[in-house]
Amino acid sequence: MKDTAGRSWEIIRGDALKLISAYEPNTFDAIITDPPYASGGRTQAEKNKSTTVKYSSMGGNAPPAFEGDSKDQRSWTRWAAEWLFDARKVCKQGAPVCVFIDWRQYPALTDALQWAGWIWRGVAVWDKGNSRPQKGRFRQQSEYIVWGSNGPMPVNRPVPCLPGVFKYGNPQQRIHLTEKPLELMREVVRIVEPGGLILDPFAGAGTTVLASALEGYRAVGIEVSEQYAGLANERIEDHLAGCST
Ligand SMILES: C[S@@+](CC[C@H](N)C(=O)[O-])C[C@H]1O[C@@H](n2cnc3c(N)ncnc32)[C@H](O)[C@@H]1O
Repeated sequence: MKDTAGRSWEIIRGDALKLISAYEPNTFDAIITDPPYASGGRTQAEKNKSTTVKYSSMGGNAPPAFEGDSKDQRSWTRWAAEWLFDARKVCKQGAPVCVFIDWRQYPALTDALQWAGWIWRGVAVWDKGNSRPQKGRFRQQSEYIVWGSNGPMPVNRPVPCLPGVFKYGNPQQRIHLTEKPLELMREVVRIVEPGGLILDPFAGAGTTVLASALEGYRAVGIEVSEQYAGLANERIEDHLAGCST
């Protein structure tokens, strides 16, 4: 894949549910993504609040709000099953899928993944290292990467042994409210065969796409927010212009 600027990556602005299905079957070698979890807030009124209120204490200095985070449980599960179905249809046989999630939405995601026809193969742990201590309770210091494949996944793929736990703190200088660490994403994308084409339907600030480019993959990111699509484009261009690895 080369976009109109001759790059091996692109960020497309739009709704994943509309854009994924426009690709031909067998286009992508993997789906690696971090969708809105819609897990902040116990009541629907709390869920309906802006993501800056739900996920940041930085007030006016917080990164911009993002979309798609207000669905209730049933709607989120149905929506996840739909985009996961569309995403599987545009992937090659054996393609891996990796989806970030937290503990609240973990059961819904593993249901949706299987309803969409993927084989669920396991979960890797992102250990963020720190979190608010709570007396008498375990810390919520992890998020999860639910992973699977589009049908059988041969063991002889040219891919190394990969860890099951990744220890990286949250990025210090975030431009997205729920940005993932770049080094974490550089490790996760290594589940894909060298040079493969990766789709991230919920690109945010473009961390998966940037990590893919740095690791020698080709990548497409879809992002519904105009502001974040623009930020992702700028960030990736700047980063790749400024470094060779
Ligand atoms: C959890 S964030 C991804 C953050 C990203 N991993 C990063 O490191 O920057 C999810 C993103 O999906 C976007 N989004 C929500 N609904 C979408 C949709 N239907 N189609 C495309 N993008 C969507 C949100 O605007 C948000 O930026």
